[in-house]
Amino acid sequence: MDLELRDIHKHFGKIRANDGVSLKVSPGRIHGVLGENGAGKSTLMKILSGFISRTSGTVLLDGEAVSCSTPAEASALGIGMLYQDPLDFPALSTLENFMVGQVANLRNRRGEFRTRLTSLCDDFGFSLDPDTAAQRLTIGERQQLELLRLLSLGIRVLILDEPTTGISSVQKDILFAALKKLVSQGRSVILVSHKLEDVEALCDTVTVLREGKVAGAMDQPFDTTALLRMMFGAPPPPTTRERRTPGEEVIRLEKVSAPGGRSGLSDCTIGIRSGEVIGLAGLEGSGQDVFLRVASGLIRPGRGKVLLQGHDVTGTSYHAFRRSGVAFQPAARLEEGLIPGLTITEHIALQDKSPSFVVRWDRSELAARENISKFQVVGTPVSPVDSLSGGNQQRLLLSFLPGAPKLLLLENPTRGLDMESVHWVWEHLDAFTRQGAAIVFSSSELDEILMVADRVLVFFDGRVIKDERPEDTDAMGLGMAIAGKTE
Ligand SMILES: Nc1ncnc2c1ncn2[C@@H]1O[C@H](COP(=O)(O)OP(=O)(O)OP(=O)(O)O)[C@@H](O)[C@H]1O
Ligand SMILES: [Mg+2]
Repeated sequence: MDLELRDIHKHFGKIRANDGVSLKVSPGRIHGVLGENGAGKSTLMKILSGFISRTSGTVLLDGEAVSCSTPAEASALGIGMLYQDPLDFPALSTLENFMVGQVANLRNRRGEFRTRLTSLCDDFGFSLDPDTAAQRLTIGERQQLELLRLLSLGIRVLILDEPTTGISSVQKDILFAALKKLVSQGRSVILVSHKLEDVEALCDTVTVLREGKVAGAMDQPFDTTALLRMMFGAPPPPTTRERRTPGEEVIRLEKVSAPGGRSGLSDCTIGIRSGEVIGLAGLEGSGQDVFLRVASGLIRPGRGKVLLQGHDVTGTSYHAFRRSGVAFQPAARLEEGLIPGLTITEHIALQDKSPSFVVRWDRSELAARENISKFQVVGTPVSPVDSLSGGNQQRLLLSFLPGAPKLLLLENPTRGLDMESVHWVWEHLDAFTRQGAAIVFSSSELDEILMVADRVLVFFDGRVIKDERPEDTDAMGLGMAIAGKTE
């Protein structure tokens, strides 16, 4: 099925998210859509998948104009999209989520769909247990589930919006293999990304968007420098962080075991000092997630002790941790961090800690303006958070971090950010460490960890199996440790 977008415009008030975009997608090919944060990638794909309506422009299938103005219409035409943030039903099981949209009555025909799910999993090398609740799956697994659901609906054009942010490199390999298989069967794939390496590894052809317009297009083999110039105008400079001598111990875990996630946390003893930046590496769900939640007071340890600045705080509440200067930011933006539908000002009003029952809107709006300008968020105080581009949502979350934290716990803080923004965020975070905060962050990007961390902890099956300085290791060494090999 040949697909063509012709002169697509989408205006949100004064913002021209798409400003005359045209592109063609052929069957059997993987088409990349590349661009920096806010370039208009997600908007274009939401138009194609019928999730939002276009201001003007034409969508053609095999040369014929089609409406595709609702997700149902798009999916009837064979177009389906995996969103930047998962849209599944967390409380339903994997099987039930798989069945959504395919049958009216979930109770009937469970057996049939169970068989279909299992056989699709086998085909694509996914291992999903039909009876696990979706909320217990990792982001990578939820993505696999949604992909299979779309396939089972019979889609011929699959759109993926930033599918590799926040998933492990192993899951990325599995996903890429699945996508190659899909195009070999004659389907087409559109991969939205701001990661050049992913586009180079996978795509046959790429279109670069910049400020809502097509900045250029290219076929394999790609000229990386030319692509970078199309994306940013000029390539960003590398970040070098000044290493400092760490200060007093901020947090200490002693022989901590805790439940949660896939692997829990086993027998973890770690001390982290003021001024340190600690990178957590590991396959998704290897214990980093639980480590961050134990250190933030969200999960209480089953065994062992947690000390904050020398004081035993084991078993006290999340709020007690917060009062001691611990700040935690989870990975799933639109589930744990931001509330869809509420504006930036409303988010700030919710965080207002003043002991008044009356919301001070004027004050919240002022704070919203400050956050927006300090963190260069593309949006206004009245923008609903779900109208921000993925990268701008992440910037907004970072702007909510407290003023002078002692310990910052960040789960994939640069997830979904383009290269320039990653540098910008770390420059900003560095200011916290200069004031004596310790930062612990997880990331699926080994390069990022090696670039900014003073120490790397590698998690495997709920344990810390490596605690090293980046200069004593490299991506290869870390990769081996992540897979469980320490020698
Ligand atoms: N519903 C909306 N209301 C207002 N503005 C919007 C809405 N949706 C998107 N925008 C704006 O349109 C522009 C393009 O956003 P879009 O989400 O398409 O960017 P993107 O290329 O996907 O970026 P990212 O890499 O950060 O995800 C941004 O400035 C964004 O704030
Ligand atoms: Mg986007």
